[in-house]
Amino acid sequence: MAYTAKDYSKLIGMEGFSQALLNNHFTLYQGYVTNTNKVTDILAGMMKEGKTGAPEYAELKRRFGWEFNGMRLHDYYFENLGGKAPLNKGGALAKKLAASFGSYEDWEKDFKATGAMRGIGWVILYEDIMTGSLFNVWVNEHDAGHPAGCRPILIMDVFEHAYMVDYGLKKADYITAFFKNINWPAAEARL
Ligand SMILES: [Fe+2]
Repeated sequence: MAYTAKDYSKLIGMEGFSQALLNNHFTLYQGYVTNTNKVTDILAGMMKEGKTGAPEYAELKRRFGWEFNGMRLHDYYFENLGGKAPLNKGGALAKKLAASFGSYEDWEKDFKATGAMRGIGWVILYEDIMTGSLFNVWVNEHDAGHPAGCRPILIMDVFEHAYMVDYGLKKADYITAFFKNINWPAAEARL
């Protein structure tokens, strides 16, 4: 079954995100969806033709995680944007953040500090489904560094395309804008 890019145009108009930046980002996301389908189709074709021993097959197998996660991480990112209200401090997510980090404020400090690290990648608040504890993870490449079996709760894209059009090198200003637009109910529903 082929994947279809979702329409996130409702995010246009968010404070601190220009239309040009968002449209570029949507186009980039659509590329991951297209390539996920393309890699899936080519691999299925090679399988049918008995070409699974070919180096091209191995390289595409390795490529799949990059394309798929490039698609899915953007889905999570766009879906946890577009919010208007702050986190409900009496809700389940706020309680879990406080239990894991000491307080909501300490969690926010750690999440932002992770985002401010030099380099490009993703910052992901993960829930360990075995213990229920939450932690902030830096992911360099879409396909590497994700803790096995954990559930992504909140995702922030810190690749340069996510902010340079609007903020240049001022990543901290982008992170501030991201926090103003978090869709907390969407994030909380992932717990
Ligand atoms: Fe991105």
